[in-house]
Amino acid sequence: MKDIILYGAGKRGKYYANVLYEHGIEIAGFCDSYKVGNIMLNTGGGKKPIFDLKEIDGGKFNIIIAIADPDEFEKVSRKIAEYKINIITLEQGVFQGKSSIEANREYIAEYHIDKMNFYFDLAEEDKSMDVFWCENSPFKKLFQQLDLTRVVELACGRGRHVQKYIMHAQNIILVDILEKNIDYCKKRFKDENKIQYYVNNGFDLSQLHTDSCTALFTYDAMVHFEMLDIFQYLKETKRVLAEGGKALFHHSNNTKNYKITFSTGSQGRNYMSKQLFAYLANRAGLTVIEQHEIDWGEDKKLDCITLVGNF
Ligand SMILES: C[S@@+](CC[C@H](N)C(=O)[O-])C[C@H]1O[C@@H](n2cnc3c(N)ncnc32)[C@H](O)[C@@H]1O
Repeated sequence: MKDIILYGAGKRGKYYANVLYEHGIEIAGFCDSYKVGNIMLNTGGGKKPIFDLKEIDGGKFNIIIAIADPDEFEKVSRKIAEYKINIITLEQGVFQGKSSIEANREYIAEYHIDKMNFYFDLAEEDKSMDVFWCENSPFKKLFQQLDLTRVVELACGRGRHVQKYIMHAQNIILVDILEKNIDYCKKRFKDENKIQYYVNNGFDLSQLHTDSCTALFTYDAMVHFEMLDIFQYLKETKRVLAEGGKALFHHSNNTKNYKITFSTGSQGRNYMSKQLFAYLANRAGLTVIEQHEIDWGEDKKLDCITLVGNF
């Protein structure tokens, strides 16, 4: 395995160095378009040199670009390519030896174990909940079209949405890749007898029977997922939905650069678009009923919600 150099010796570069160090990987050093000398890391192996890109041997090193600005990122990638040095993502650096899809999936899941506590607290506040559940919300309008006789909530997190629909549902199946989140939900809803729990593998619903559910939805999670995992989930949705069932997906509409991943996309939005999602749903055998591009914070049309049916 080649050693890693981070291109970008700023805040992001130091953060990446620490993430890699937490996974037992010590970087060889940095490159930077503006800085020279050494960088002192609080964790991540102490003092690290800033190399001149011209001196880097592509046979020995991979480079991870740690630059937030997308234009600067592209400029630097072209420069690195001219020197025939391989560029990898932070996810590939952390989970070396795995395919990029597996590495990205694992990175997203692992990030939610303890780096998201602030998110889960904030997410329970009225302002965050209103995005999905206030009267004029486009989410609410589409959600009302779901038949909640047997509904799957995919990537349920700590179950904040359950309180908004449990009174209308007969059976609920909460699915998440993280055991920690499912355990949290089990405690939170210990007095409810209509909920089943399922820790899945991050891309299928193999424990659910074919034609067994009337609805499926997922909020604020699929925006991060890999497109190829989304296709797996769409095929699984087609399989588990009974005829006439519907599913509602909140997904990314971030097409800025096909190379983005969870760690580099704006607000963690992975590469996906309204049209690509419709294509994938169609190829999975689902009918696209309605799609709405939506703003996420300051980012115009960063996300999209898509309602599909199994007809
Ligand atoms: C940002 S949280 C949102 C949780 C919840 N949907 C909400 O709105 O509060 C994203 C959730 O997706 C889960 N997750 C991440 N990757 C997943 C995958 N490939 N399959 C299923 N769940 C996943 C995480 O464990 C986390 O619970």
